Amino acid sequence: MQKTAVVTGGSRNIGQGIAIVLAEHGYDVAITYRSHPEGAEETKQSIEKLGRKCFVYQASLDQSDVPAKVMAQAHRDLGHIDVCVCNAGKDRRHSVLTVTAEQIDELFQSNFRAYSLCAGAAARHMIRDGIKGSIIFITSTRAERAYPSDFVYGGLKAGIKRACESIALDLSQYGIRVNCVAPGGTLEPKLDKGGFGSGVFAKEVIPLGRIGIPRDDAEVVAFLASDKASYITGTTVRCDGGLILSGMPEDNTSVKWVDKDWQEKIRAEVMQRED
Ligand SMILES: NC(=O)c1ccc[n+]([C@@H]2O[C@H](COP(=O)([O-])OP(=O)(O)OC[C@H]3O[C@@H](n4cnc5c(N)ncnc54)[C@H](OP(=O)(O)O)[C@@H]3O)[C@@H](O)[C@H]2O)c1
Repeated sequence: MQKTAVVTGGSRNIGQGIAIVLAEHGYDVAITYRSHPEGAEETKQSIEKLGRKCFVYQASLDQSDVPAKVMAQAHRDLGHIDVCVCNAGKDRRHSVLTVTAEQIDELFQSNFRAYSLCAGAAARHMIRDGIKGSIIFITSTRAERAYPSDFVYGGLKAGIKRACESIALDLSQYGIRVNCVAPGGTLEPKLDKGGFGSGVFAKEVIPLGRIGIPRDDAEVVAFLASDKASYITGTTVRCDGGLILSGMPEDNTSVKWVDKDWQEKIRAEVMQRED
C-alpha cells in the first residue's frame, strides 16, 4: 500500500524539509500552510518532481474545528493516513511581568491545542482503518532548557513532550506510536539572510559547530515514522548538534541570550502600569 503522511506547516523551514524528505522516502504527502501559499507551492513542486503526490490545504490550526477538518480532507485525498507530523507552531517571547491572557492563549492554541487535536483526529482515522501509524510532534530543546522570556513557548513545548508520553500510552493498544523530535536552532539556508547559520551562535555555542538545517530534523522524523523504529514510542529525539548537552551551562549560554534592551523595555512598562 502507498505510504502517506500529513505534515502541518509544510510551507517553510522545518515543515517544508520534513514534507520533502518524507516524499524522498516514498510517501505521498498532504501539507498545511497558514499565510504563505507560495511556500506551500514550492513544497508541492519539489514533491511532485520526486514523483509523489502532494495535497495542499490552507488552514489556521489555532481555530478549534480546523484540525479535524484538515485530517478528514487529508484522509479523503490520500486514502488513509500512516503518519501525522504536528509541526506548525509559533515562536513568541513574553515576560511574565507583561504577558496578556490573549498572548498566552495564542501560543496555547497553536502550540499545544492544535497539536493535540491534530493527533487525535489522525489517530481516529488510523484506528478505523486498522493502521498502526506514527504520530510525531515537533517540540524544541527549549522544552528542556530554560531561557529568558521563554516561559510560555518553552513551557508549552515541555507540555507537548510530556503529553506525548500519555498519548503514546493511550494509543499503544492500537499499535500507533507517538514520539517527539526536538530541534535546536534550525534554519533553511535560503532563509538565512543575516548569516546566522555561520555566525558566532553556530561556531561557538553549538558543539558540532553549525546551525541545524531542516533535513537534519526531517531524517529523524523519517526514521521514527518507519518500521525501523517499530519498537520506539513515547520518546523524544533531540536533534540539536549537542546544543543543550549537560556541561554547557558553565559558559553561561542562557545568560548570554538575555537581551538587555528587551529587559529595559519590560522594566519601563512595569513601572508605568498600575495593575
Ligand atoms: N526553527 C527553529 O530553530 C526551531 C527550533 C526548535 C523548534 N522549532 C519548532 O519547529 C516547528 C517549525 O518551526 P519553523 O522554524 O520551521 O517555523 P516557521 O518557519 O515559523 O514556519 C511555521 C510553519 O507553521 C505554519 N503555522 C504557524 N502557525 C500556524 C497556525 N496557527 N496554523 C496553521 N499553520 C501555522 C506556518 O505557515 P505560514 O508560513 O504559511 O503562515 C509555517 O508553515 C515549530 O513547532 C517550532 O516551534 C523550531
